[in-house]
Amino acid sequence: MANKISISTLPFEFKDMPYKFEKLRELGVDYVHCDIMDGAFVPNKTYTPKMLSEIAGNINLPLDVHLMVENPLDYLDILSKCATYYTFHCECFNDKKELDNAINQVKNKGLKVGIAVDLNTEVICIEAILNKIDLVLVMSVKAGAGGQKFDENSLEKIKYFDNYRKQYNLNYQIEVDGGINGDNVAKCIQMGANIVVSGSYVAKAKDMQVAINSLRIN
Ligand code: DX5
Ligand code: ZN
Repeated sequence: MANKISISTLPFEFKDMPYKFEKLRELGVDYVHCDIMDGAFVPNKTYTPKMLSEIAGNINLPLDVHLMVENPLDYLDILSKCATYYTFHCECFNDKKELDNAINQVKNKGLKVGIAVDLNTEVICIEAILNKIDLVLVMSVKAGAGGQKFDENSLEKIKYFDNYRKQYNLNYQIEVDGGINGDNVAKCIQMGANIVVSGSYVAKAKDMQVAINSLRIN
């Protein structure tokens, strides 16, 4: 089955998002990758979950929410009506029990739960909860900013999660996020990624349709 494409909100002005993502929907993208940063978990700050919830009704694409925030459970109520994937960072929680509890709270809201693993975080940190989640977000850049260079070390992580789900007959999605372009996307899919995130590569393309098509591999 062909891989999915999720376009990051980072390159766009918040006020332009409904219009920009309507254009992107017409060009065939699958998700809006809503990068939300609180200025604490990462230094940058973006629009807030409340602001996103207020425009969600004008965006006709599923929201793939990527929370780069210190307290991801604070936004459950506000996003429970509009998020499809609710993804937060494993680094927010100190132990498995806390992470387990957070996952359960997201699932109790009827949302698909994703766990993000930052560039320098070992895969072992989330191994124990892989059988409980809908998506693993493998960061191929350091969380916190768009326009960074793809880190090839992330390919090993994608492969690990693909092998793990085959070995234990699990069906979580593997999403890769950061510095994805027409040159490195095929390797990500080859390693087992199902969803690729693009921010600057598509947003800055001369021809967005050509750029989007180059991210669809199989
Ligand atoms: C980084 C974000 C990514 C990033 C993708 O913290 O999570 O989604 O913005 O943008 P590019 O494709 O420009 O790396
Ligand atoms: Zn992201």
